[in-house]
Amino acid sequence: MSSKAGINGLLNLRSSSPATESDVLTSEFYHTHLMICNALFNLKGRVALVTGGGSGIGLMITQALAVNGAKVYIVGRSEEKLERVAQTYGKDQVNDGEIIPITADIIDKKEIARLYKEISEREKCLCILVNNAGTSGETFESSFDDWERVYRPNVGQIFFLTTAFLPLLQKSADIYSDYSGTVINIASVSGLLKTAQHHFQYNTSKAAAIHLTRILANEVASNRFKIRVNSISPGVFPSEMTTEGSGEDQRSYIPKDQYADKLPAGRPGKDEDIARAVIFLVVEQYIKGQNLVIDGGYSLVAGY
Ligand SMILES: NC(=O)c1ccc[n+]([C@@H]2O[C@H](COP(=O)([O-])OP(=O)(O)OC[C@H]3O[C@@H](n4cnc5c(N)ncnc54)[C@H](OP(=O)(O)O)[C@@H]3O)[C@@H](O)[C@H]2O)c1
Repeated sequence: MSSKAGINGLLNLRSSSPATESDVLTSEFYHTHLMICNALFNLKGRVALVTGGGSGIGLMITQALAVNGAKVYIVGRSEEKLERVAQTYGKDQVNDGEIIPITADIIDKKEIARLYKEISEREKCLCILVNNAGTSGETFESSFDDWERVYRPNVGQIFFLTTAFLPLLQKSADIYSDYSGTVINIASVSGLLKTAQHHFQYNTSKAAAIHLTRILANEVASNRFKIRVNSISPGVFPSEMTTEGSGEDQRSYIPKDQYADKLPAGRPGKDEDIARAVIFLVVEQYIKGQNLVIDGGYSLVAGY
């Protein structure tokens, strides 16, 4: 077998077919080529669902997965935003990835059920669920309703959406060899800091999201689901939440200088910073119940 055909054969074997005993090659060739980044980080054919994929961090995640070959369903309440993302970034994918918009309000259980039905009718499994949608809280003068408004998407939604999709996530381990479905919750470094940052409800909701990640990881593991649950806690990234909004391309912008002296990294987070973290958690099969902090050193300055 030529080297190129061999690598492609192995990639196909790893990404699309059920495992059999005869697939287990033990040659030096197999071990060498499994270590190539192309094989280690191959996302071709993976099916993903990213909530809040129409802007900010969700858009960064969507692009990272799609350009590397995944079929990405993006969910949000605004059809206009989602369509714009699909039109702008969904075509000319170098690796045959796709971006498919579905409008839904995911703090409503009926909407979650509709979303599950729609995706399970179209797909045999869900390989990647990114619970990214969230909202922020404002000032000290908040009410009980404000707290609930923040907790619904930032905490309750993670629980209801994840548990609804468990059967479809489990199927990815049944279909693909050496792969387990993955849930990635987008929490925040704000959930770890000792400071309230003027939004108590947001910071405590993100602390809850980090803890919920660990509880869910434990529950799925102890019930023998082959599903990995982890979270990412970003620092400051450009998004509709952290800036005035987004442009025609659905992207947001924070001037680099704004954080030159405030963060050890000397800049806000970039798309690539999130992309590497997400792809790592998708492909790494041996990480469960962990929280990955991607904050340019924010927590070093602000303190836990
Ligand atoms: N940007 C940062 O610096 C930063 C730092 C740490 C953590 N985070 C977290 O990152 C996540 C993404 O936020 P972002 O900063 O990227 O802000 P963003 O641009 O405002 O994105 C939030 C997305 O969530 C969607 N969404 C909100 N509520 C929803 C609902 N009920 N149903 C469906 N979709 C909903 C929004 O779309 P629709 O309005 O169309 O529904 C929007 O696309 C959040 O969990 C946030 O807490 C952000």
